[in-house]
Amino acid sequence: MSRSLVKEEQSEMLFIPIAPPKGVMPNVLGYKRMKGVTVADEREQTIGTLLMSTARPGMDRLIGYLVVDGFFTSPASTRFHRSCPGGLAQHSLGVCNLLLKYNKEFNLNTTRNFGQVSFPVREENLIIAGLLHDVCKIGAYLGSGSPYKWNRAQPKGHALLSLIRIAKYIEMEPIEELMIKFHMGTYGTFEFESYAAEYSIKGDKSKSKEERYGQSLRNAWYHNPIVKLIYFCDELEMFSK
Ligand SMILES: [Fe+2]
Ligand SMILES: [Fe+2]
Repeated sequence: MSRSLVKEEQSEMLFIPIAPPKGVMPNVLGYKRMKGVTVADEREQTIGTLLMSTARPGMDRLIGYLVVDGFFTSPASTRFHRSCPGGLAQHSLGVCNLLLKYNKEFNLNTTRNFGQVSFPVREENLIIAGLLHDVCKIGAYLGSGSPYKWNRAQPKGHALLSLIRIAKYIEMEPIEELMIKFHMGTYGTFEFESYAAEYSIKGDKSKSKEERYGQSLRNAWYHNPIVKLIYFCDELEMFSK
């Protein structure tokens, strides 16, 4: 199996240039504000610290991209859940925390998978997938408050767009790619454009087991229960205030 589960044609489908530095000083990882620290500042610091704890090469550049392109100030939706400045970071940290909590509770590691072909799951995988699954939403919303307007110039795609953006900075492990790719669960089979689903529920039976691995929702969920858990956590986070 190849190192990356993202198909080559998918990564060529969209081209998003790396954001140039705009003279913005990242206020994560050591940069201290002189004035009062807000909840949003603390969240930003926490996310930066968690991401750097993975020690993944390129993570510092990825964090710079998040800061410069507005991950920490963006809403998470036009008028629904976390439709407020900083909503995207709040949602992402919430999903990450739920993942860490429930993975500990259920221990969804190889020992739980009854001999299926699953990847091992480590805390850094949960941090990367949980915090970065929705980076596709950077730049997606226009306006200064709810309701925001959808940015029609935004590149198409959701989970696959997140994967493409992340891959510009760090190399993801296969389990991280699977978690991010399928984090929308069944929604990803029809969301955004009915004719342009990001994946299907069932795999192509004419292909070999190896070729089908990780390509459909059912296959990914069957072999790696943690891929199902991130979908649950993404939904559960929407219940929290
Ligand atoms: Fe999402
Ligand atoms: Fe999400």
